[in-house]
Amino acid sequence: MAIPTSPKEQNLNAAAVVPAAGRGERLGPGAPKALRELGGVPLLVHAVRALARSRAVTLVVVVAPADGVTRVRGLLDDYGVDGHDGARIAVVPGGSTRQESVRLGLGVIPGDVDVVLVHDAARPLVPVDVVDAVVRAVADGAEAVVPAVPLADTVKQVEPGAAPGRPEPVVATPDRSTLRAVQTPQGFRREVLLRVHEKALNDGVEATDDAGLVERYGGSVVVVPGHEEAFKVTRPLDLVLAEAVLARRRSRDEF
Ligand code: CTP
Ligand code: MG
Repeated sequence: MAIPTSPKEQNLNAAAVVPAAGRGERLGPGAPKALRELGGVPLLVHAVRALARSRAVTLVVVVAPADGVTRVRGLLDDYGVDGHDGARIAVVPGGSTRQESVRLGLGVIPGDVDVVLVHDAARPLVPVDVVDAVVRAVADGAEAVVPAVPLADTVKQVEPGAAPGRPEPVVATPDRSTLRAVQTPQGFRREVLLRVHEKALNDGVEATDDAGLVERYGGSVVVVPGHEEAFKVTRPLDLVLAEAVLARRRSRDEF
């Protein structure tokens, strides 16, 4: 029987880009979302630590708000994140959209990196098993990999209303068993992700996730199981849930 090998044993070199340049408008007034605290620690620090914990990840490129590079660098240094768990940290200024921020982060990934992960700073609690599963799926030959979970709610496609709050006619109900809610980190062969971002820039194409760009240009994307704790902190209630998840982990001594 073959002995399973970890990504590190396969000598895989993975780097992660962490877009953290958003304002977090849906979270309400306060600091930029990535710097808001969860259990007394900024979301960004949680997210970077979660990636660094994966043995394959040797570099994490944090994409900070354009006017916040020094502050973010200082924060990561305060928490001793650089070099911890064997991963170096770089910080670069971001752009006005998530896609632009990711592209700016990709600009500093060295050529010897095989696998690039893109992970939202706003998903602080992603378990390391999800990170490893994504790296492994790329190592096993996929060009683009997305972690995802089944939907709890039935989804309706509607004709968007003329004004907010007005009744909206239902157009269709997609079969829920074929739908997945996607998370991050999404994983890619480095050259694939670089190519689609460059094309998108030239064509003026915007997608809501990186895998969407791969699909758009005819590449293939596969889904692997995500995790309910990899949810994105978007609205105030998500922060309440994240605090509860963290408290449960701490009470079980998981970290
Ligand atoms: N992001 C980024 N650069 C942008 C916009 C978003 O790096 N110009 C990052 C965010 O910091 C976040 C991730 O992309 O980690 C996912 O975006 P989202 O959850 O939408 O965060 P925000 O854009 O900050 O939130 P909102 O849309 O509520 O303003
Ligand atoms: Mg946003």
